[in-house]
Amino acid sequence: MVSKSWLTKVTTNVYAIGSFAALAGIMFGFDIGSNSGVILTWQYREYFNNPSDLLQGGINGALSAGCFVGALFAGFPADRYSRKYTLMGASVLFVIGSVFQAASNGVPLLCVGRVLNGLSVGVTSMVVPLYQSEIAPKEIRGRIVAVQQWSITWGIMLSFWIQYGAQYSSGDSYTAAFRIPWAIQAVPAILLLAGMWAFPFSPRWLADQGRMEEAIKVLADIHGGGDINHERVQMEIQEIEAVIKFDREQASHRYADILKPQYAYRASLGICLQIWQQLTGMNIIMFYVVLLFEQAGIGSDQEATLVSAGVNYVVNVVMTVPAILWVDKWGRRNTMIFGALAMSLFLWVVGGLMSQGRWYQEEGSDRWMLEIGSTARANGMVACVYLFVASFATTWGPLGWIYPAEIFPLRIRAIAVSLSTSANWLFNWVLNFVVPMLMQRIRFGLYMLFAGFNFLMACHVFLAYPETKGFTLEEMDIVFEQNPRKKLDRAFVEAEMARRSGINDHRPPDADSTEKTENIV
Ligand code: BGC
Repeated sequence: MVSKSWLTKVTTNVYAIGSFAALAGIMFGFDIGSNSGVILTWQYREYFNNPSDLLQGGINGALSAGCFVGALFAGFPADRYSRKYTLMGASVLFVIGSVFQAASNGVPLLCVGRVLNGLSVGVTSMVVPLYQSEIAPKEIRGRIVAVQQWSITWGIMLSFWIQYGAQYSSGDSYTAAFRIPWAIQAVPAILLLAGMWAFPFSPRWLADQGRMEEAIKVLADIHGGGDINHERVQMEIQEIEAVIKFDREQASHRYADILKPQYAYRASLGICLQIWQQLTGMNIIMFYVVLLFEQAGIGSDQEATLVSAGVNYVVNVVMTVPAILWVDKWGRRNTMIFGALAMSLFLWVVGGLMSQGRWYQEEGSDRWMLEIGSTARANGMVACVYLFVASFATTWGPLGWIYPAEIFPLRIRAIAVSLSTSANWLFNWVLNFVVPMLMQRIRFGLYMLFAGFNFLMACHVFLAYPETKGFTLEEMDIVFEQNPRKKLDRAFVEAEMARRSGINDHRPPDADSTEKTENIV
C-alpha cells in the first residue's frame, strides 16, 4: 500500500474537511458580531457623522439583506459549479467586502462592503452545511455540521473581544477602532480561499454531475481509507447511484419538484426550523445584550457591563462543544425539544425578574430603564441569560444547520437548503429592527414573548419532526414517509432502502455510537 503524503492524509480526513470548510463560520460570526460592537464606539460615530437611527438601521440592514439574497441564490451555483467552487467564490467576495469596509471613507463605501460581506455569508451559511453533510458518514454527520456552528460562535466571540481591544484607539489613529476589526475579518476568508482547492468535491455532487468515477474515488478516500472495494464505500455508491437513477427517471423538473406535496411539506419543516432558530431569541442576546445589561443596570460602570456581556460569547463557544461531542448520540428530536423547553424556562425567569423591578423613563430621553432592586435579582437575571445562551449553544445553534442540510433528496437539496437558510436570514433581519423597539415598548414582555415561541417550537418539533440521526441522506425519503413521532426501526429502513435500490448484499455492521465509527474516518 502506498503511504499517503501528509497533505493527502489531511484532505481525505472527514474531520479535517468539515473543519476547514467551517472556517466560513468564523466569517459568519464576525458579521454577526460587527452588528453589535463597533457601531457603539465613539470613534465610529464620530467618523461616520453620527448616523441617525434610521441610517444605522440601513447600514445594519445592508448586511442581513445581503445574507438573505446570498442564501436565496446560492442553490444554483452550488449545483451548477459545485459546493467547493461556490465556497471559494464567496470567500473572494468576503475579502473584497472586508477591504471596502476597512478602507471606507464614508457611509456609501461602508454599505457596499457590508452588502458584499452579507452576500458572501449568505452563500457560505447555506453551502457549508450542505457540503459537510454530503461528505460526512451518517454516524457523525451531526458532529461535522456542528463544527460550523462552533466556528460561528468563535467568530462572534473573537469579533466582540477584538472590538473591545480596538476601542481604545485614539489620537490620529482613532479610526483603528473600526478599521482593525473589519480588516481582521478577511483572514479566515483568505485562508478558506487559499486552502479549499486542496479539498475534495462533494462526492454526491460529483455523482449527480455524472462524474461517477471521481465520486467513487472521493468516497473511497474519505470513508474507505482509499479502498474502492471497502464494504461501506460499495454500499454508499450503490445507494447514491440508485437514488440518482430514480431521480433521472422520475423527476423531470429538478427544482420544481420542491412543489410536490411530500417535498413542499419537508421544505416547510426546514424553513420553519430555521425561522424557529431565530425566534429562540438568541440574537436578542447576541446583538443587544449590552443594551439589556445597561437597561437593567448590570455592572457598576460601562466597562463592567461590557465584560458581563462579553461572557455570553464565551459561554456560547464553550457550550457548543457538548453538541459536537454528543449530538449524534442524543438525536435531533430530543435535543431540540429539550433545548426549546430549557430556553423557554430561562427566558420566562428573565422576564419575570425584570417585571419585579422598578421601571422609569430616563431623563432627557424617553428610554425605559430598570432599577432591578436587589443583587439577588440582578445575579439571577444574569445567570439565566447565561443559561439561556448555554441551552441554545448545545441544541438549536447546531441543530438549526444540521437538520435542514440532511433531510432533502439530492435533486432539490441545494435549492431547499437555500430557501430554509434565507428564511433564517430574513428573520434575523426582522429581529434586528424590531428587538430594540420591543425592548422599549413591551420591556420585560419581550422575554416572555420569546419564552412563548420556544414553547411552541418544542410542540412543533414533538408533533412534526422525525428523528434523522443515524440514517444516510439517501434514506431520508423513507424516514419522512413514517409517523414522525414513532421511533424508527433501523432494520426496517435499511431493508426498505435495499429493496428500493435493488441492493441485495447486506450492509456494513451498523454503528450506533460515534465511538464505534471513529475508525471509518
Ligand atoms: C444563528 C445566529 C446566531 C448564532 C449564535 C447561529 O446558529 O443562526 O443567528 O447569532 O447561532 O451562536
